[in-house]
Amino acid sequence: MKRIVVIGSASTDFVVKTEIRPKSGETLIGQDFQTTFGGKGANQAVAAARLGANVKMIGAVGIDSYGNDIIANLINEKIDVSNVERVTHLGTGSAHITLAEGDNSIVVIPGANNGVNEQMIQPLLATIHKEDIVIVQQEIPSQTVEIIIDYCFDHEIQTILNPAPARQIAKKTIEKVTYLTPNEHEFDLLFPNQTLEAGLAKYPNKLLVTLGSKGVAYNNGEEQLIVPGYQVTPIDTTGAGDTFNGAFVVGLINQLSIKESIRFGNLAASLSIQKFGAQGGMPTLEEMKGSEHYEKEWDFK
Ligand code: ATP
Ligand code: RIB
Repeated sequence: MKRIVVIGSASTDFVVKTEIRPKSGETLIGQDFQTTFGGKGANQAVAAARLGANVKMIGAVGIDSYGNDIIANLINEKIDVSNVERVTHLGTGSAHITLAEGDNSIVVIPGANNGVNEQMIQPLLATIHKEDIVIVQQEIPSQTVEIIIDYCFDHEIQTILNPAPARQIAKKTIEKVTYLTPNEHEFDLLFPNQTLEAGLAKYPNKLLVTLGSKGVAYNNGEEQLIVPGYQVTPIDTTGAGDTFNGAFVVGLINQLSIKESIRFGNLAASLSIQKFGAQGGMPTLEEMKGSEHYEKEWDFK
């Protein structure tokens, strides 16, 4: 089976729960505080590994205790961390998350994730093979993302670019990725003044736009489809997109079609958001199989 190589961020999430989001200049008393494992790269790696995939992570953490804990967590999830580097000049990345009024707001401090730069990535590219499938997000420098996509394109390696958090991407990079998976907000930034329908029609079987509870929209080359999400009552939607991306790729490497891989991703994400923390609710394959919505045809090896 193909190996999944996730190149991206690994961070500590500092999560505060409060009933009301504070206004500028306001101080209020919240309900709870926890630190959890996060970073879009690590989250997507964990999502895929829990579903039984062979996952290698490329990233960077600091030489602090947060970095130790992140590496221990990835090892515990059976992820190959031989290229999760320790950098001495930057602290481990962090995300400062406020859960309030049924939604989250996040401030990301990249820290060591910015150490995933050209100098670090160049010698590691040769460790990625043609049989691999590569997932990358945007919590590492944009230049690194471009280097990875160029390399993979030249070596016919499949790529998924999850363009989160939102930032501009060169058109040539979009052309080179195999799949691009923005949410609605990221879609609007990447394709200004374009309707969803027009954007999807431009990139059939490549552009998959996640629509929260509504599911995922894409164009299959003939028509636009919406693959509906599963109706659940969310506890914490942090990492919904990461779970979707990790699970979608697991579907692909298990020979599911794009549409079935999206359904598989939607189900994994809907299970994940019923528990606290980005990684807290990410399902194992056994948990997926326990869902009433699990399809018999998804019988993985
Ligand atoms: P996040 O930033 O919170 O990780 P996102 O904004 O990147 O998420 P979304 O489009 O909100 O991405 O969600 C990704 C996927 O997660 C959706 O396509 C869907 O499958 C699932 N999902 C998200 N929210 C819900 C929900 N309320 N109910 C069911 N499924 C959901
Ligand atoms: O996608 C969710 C992740 O984004 C969180 O775990 C947090 O680390 C932020 O970067």
